[in-house]
Amino acid sequence: MNLILLGPPGAGKGTMASGIKDHYRIPHISTGDIFRTAIKEGTELGKKVKSILDAGELVSDDLTVALVEERLSQPDAKEGYILDGFPRTIPQAEAFDKIAGEYRVLNFILAHDIVVNRLSGRRICKNCGEIFHIKSKPSQKEGVCDSCGGELYTRPDDMKEAILNRLEVYDAQTAPLVDFFQAKSQMADIDCNQPIPAMMEDVLKVLG
Ligand code: AP5
Ligand code: MG
Repeated sequence: MNLILLGPPGAGKGTMASGIKDHYRIPHISTGDIFRTAIKEGTELGKKVKSILDAGELVSDDLTVALVEERLSQPDAKEGYILDGFPRTIPQAEAFDKIAGEYRVLNFILAHDIVVNRLSGRRICKNCGEIFHIKSKPSQKEGVCDSCGGELYTRPDDMKEAILNRLEVYDAQTAPLVDFFQAKSQMADIDCNQPIPAMMEDVLKVLG
C-alpha cells in the first residue's frame, strides 16, 4: 500500500503513521523528520533548512522532491510506504503523481483553533521520535520517553508564532491538494477531533 497522509500541522499524521507502520509493516517517511534529523546531525542539508523549519516556512520544491524520490527508490519502500508531510504544494503533488503508481490519500481534518493546543502540548523523544502530549498522551514520567527512556523535547516550530505561520502556509499552499487528490486518487476524510484510539480505529477501518 502506498499512502499519503495529508492534513494541517498537529492533526495527528505522525501519531497515526506510527500505528499504520506497525500494522502494515511499511516504512513511515516523514519529510519533516528527515529535515529535523539533518539539522540535528549538522549536515549541509540541515544547515540549509534550519531557519526555514524554525519559522514554519516550506523548504523548496526542488530540494524536497529530489529527497523524496531518492528515499522512495530504496528497497524498503518497494512494498509500500506512508508519506507524512509530502506532498505539500501543487508542484510537489504533480511531481509525485508522475513517478508514483497507485496510491491512496487520507485527508486529516482538524479545525485550526484545536491545532494550537495540540502543538503547544506536544513532546517528542529526542532518541526514538515517539510523540507524546502533556494532556492527551502523557508519558508516565514527565520528560522521559515510555518506550526508550530518552529525553522529551519541544519542537522549535511549536511556538505560537511559528504554529500560526504553519497554519497560514497550510491554507495557502497545501489545502489546494485536497481537490488535486480528489480528482486523481482514492481519498478518505479522517475526523481528527476525537481521541487517539478512536482516530486509529477509523484509519484502520478505512484502509481495510
Ligand atoms: P512536519 O514535521 O511535517 O510538520 P507538520 O505538517 O506541521 O505536522 P506536525 O508534525 O506538526 O503534526 P502531525 O500531524 O504529525 O501531528 P502529531 O501526530 O505530532 O513539517 C515540519 C516542517 O518541515 C515544515 O513546516 C516545513 O518547514 C518542512 N517540511 C516538511 N515537509 C515538507 C515538504 N513536503 N515541503 C516543504 N517543506 C517541508 O500530533 C500533534 C500532537 O497532538 C501530539 O502531541 C500528539 O500526541 C497529539 N495528538 C495526536 N492525535 C491526537 C488526538 N486524536 N487527540 C488528542 N491529541 C492528539
Ligand atoms: Mg508530524
